Amino acid sequence: MCGIVGYVGRTKAGDAASDHQHGALDVVIEGLRRLEYRGYDSAGVAVISDGHVESRKKSGKLTNLLAELEADPLQPAVVGIGHTRWATHGGPTDGNAHPHLADDGKLAVIHNGIIENFAPLKAELLGKGYQFKSETDTEVAAVLLGDIYRNQVRNLSEAMQLACQRLEGAFTLLAIHADQPDVVVAARRNSPLVVGLGEGENFLGSDVSGFIDYTRRAVELGQDQIVTITPDSVEITDFFGAPAQGHEYKVDWDATAAKKDGYPSFMEKEINEQPRAVRETLLGRTDTDGNLMLDELRIDESVLRSVDKIIVIACGTAAYAGQVARYAIEHWCRVPTEVELAHEFRYRDPIVDEKTLVIAISQSGETMDTLMAVRYAREQGAKVLAICNTNGSTIPRESDAVLYTHAGPEIAVASTKAFLAQITAAYLLGLYLAQLRGNKYRDEVADVLEDLGRIPDKIQQILDRADEVKKLARDFVDAKSVLFLGRHVGFPVALEGALKLKELAYIHAEGFAAGELKHGPIALIEEGQPVFVVVPSPRGRDSLHSKVVSNIQEIRARGAVTIVIAEEGDEAVKDYANHVIYVPQTPTLLAPLLTTVPLQLFACELASSKGYDVDQPRNLAKSVTVE
Ligand code: M6R
Repeated sequence: MCGIVGYVGRTKAGDAASDHQHGALDVVIEGLRRLEYRGYDSAGVAVISDGHVESRKKSGKLTNLLAELEADPLQPAVVGIGHTRWATHGGPTDGNAHPHLADDGKLAVIHNGIIENFAPLKAELLGKGYQFKSETDTEVAAVLLGDIYRNQVRNLSEAMQLACQRLEGAFTLLAIHADQPDVVVAARRNSPLVVGLGEGENFLGSDVSGFIDYTRRAVELGQDQIVTITPDSVEITDFFGAPAQGHEYKVDWDATAAKKDGYPSFMEKEINEQPRAVRETLLGRTDTDGNLMLDELRIDESVLRSVDKIIVIACGTAAYAGQVARYAIEHWCRVPTEVELAHEFRYRDPIVDEKTLVIAISQSGETMDTLMAVRYAREQGAKVLAICNTNGSTIPRESDAVLYTHAGPEIAVASTKAFLAQITAAYLLGLYLAQLRGNKYRDEVADVLEDLGRIPDKIQQILDRADEVKKLARDFVDAKSVLFLGRHVGFPVALEGALKLKELAYIHAEGFAAGELKHGPIALIEEGQPVFVVVPSPRGRDSLHSKVVSNIQEIRARGAVTIVIAEEGDEAVKDYANHVIYVPQTPTLLAPLLTTVPLQLFACELASSKGYDVDQPRNLAKSVTVE
């Protein structure tokens, strides 16, 4: 939620800049462009120019702010902060947009997160005579910081320390003050913040895409830390001023990875990047003898051997990846495996102990619900292994081990390539555990790896026929409701297909286990109701295939329009399908890596033909960093 950028350099825009110096506003705006996927209710910037803080902010997407800046430009500056918002406290209005000013307009603050004790703090500050212009918790933090700066310590870093000691909740705060015109101070608790290291300039961002155009040297901050950046220094302390360390790393993707590359949307680009996402996630995971190795695991083998239960925790699409993986992990490892939404997990008093392996799946590595569940699981003594796409993010850092997916940056709010990469990584983990625990021989593991290795080309075959699915999607542009059915691994695929359609096309969509149909959902079927059915391979367990074919007949008999996703060569489905989308043959457990793709294409095309922005669907944000 909310994108945050900070910059401090030496050269104003328009000055004779050296090779590596940039104007603050240009850097901040470019950063906001790249971070807009985190929230797009409103946007704002503040700079220090000729000893004054100047700011502009506007509700709506970043383009509204750009129009405002064109109508009412800011002066060139060397220090700036910028924000793109996903509203929590206070609606998405101009007044609630960040930055919020305090200390008579000399201080500007932007914020990501929720200040939980904002109400008593606001009451206290009102009692001191301060007035508030917005309904936000952020303005309370800004006024508190301004009050401390003015009345206690005339140093922004120290004032931030004192302010943070009083704040509860989750926050990344960035502040600039007119009295210290070459400094940006930031604080983080339970909310993401990364430093970018430049030469004679330094950067801050919610994630590295905030500054990826300028540097690939990044520093990840720990919990409860404050960082003060000037053009030549980066100083990190804790909330009490004690020196602290960040962890420097090199960002392994470049700015072009965060560009559309000729595609009409990031969503379409990312769907098309899926062969590569799966291939790269598989890459380098075997030794020269073909043994599966997962060196990043960092959990003692004896601990992994003694695990007697696995719990997968995640949210949204990542949780569906977990549901898919569960079928494979249980089948291969014979370890009871549960999948639970992270936000439900820790509130139900789950049975978790030292013999439980918790797998936390998260594309962003910042999802607050998942992070809190990770902390809870570790407190109960479980080992936590993260499957994550974002290097340097919080969830892997707080886990015992990490297995990175190598999908590359996922910018579109709706997850696509990360989903397939998550399934791939979870399968690697399942195979590794099966090998380690003696449930599978090396050649059995090698056979599955070989099948996995063929998946990228098969995804490409589906993408090469995308036009058929897109045409079909356009035919359903007026659908009011679409249902999705699946059995076994096809069930979470059905859930994911429904989620994609809901979030992109704002159409009522629901996924069901096909076997559950006659226990209630079949009552929804009426003449013309579109229903996707994900059909398992007829070459797998025969009963599975024939039962789903029976389900198709049951809904057809009641007037449903059936869109069937089946394996090439499956002639049995033809008689009962209004439309068939064939995918290449593959073993049943791996099928979700293929059957998901047409559902993504369908949702993306249908939403696009309705004229919706598929990269930034309404009300959503890419990374959900509040509970
Ligand atoms: O970054 P994460 O994988 O932890 O995000 C989890 C969900 O918020 C995410 O998958 C969400 O459901 C997407 N909008 C789905 O497209």
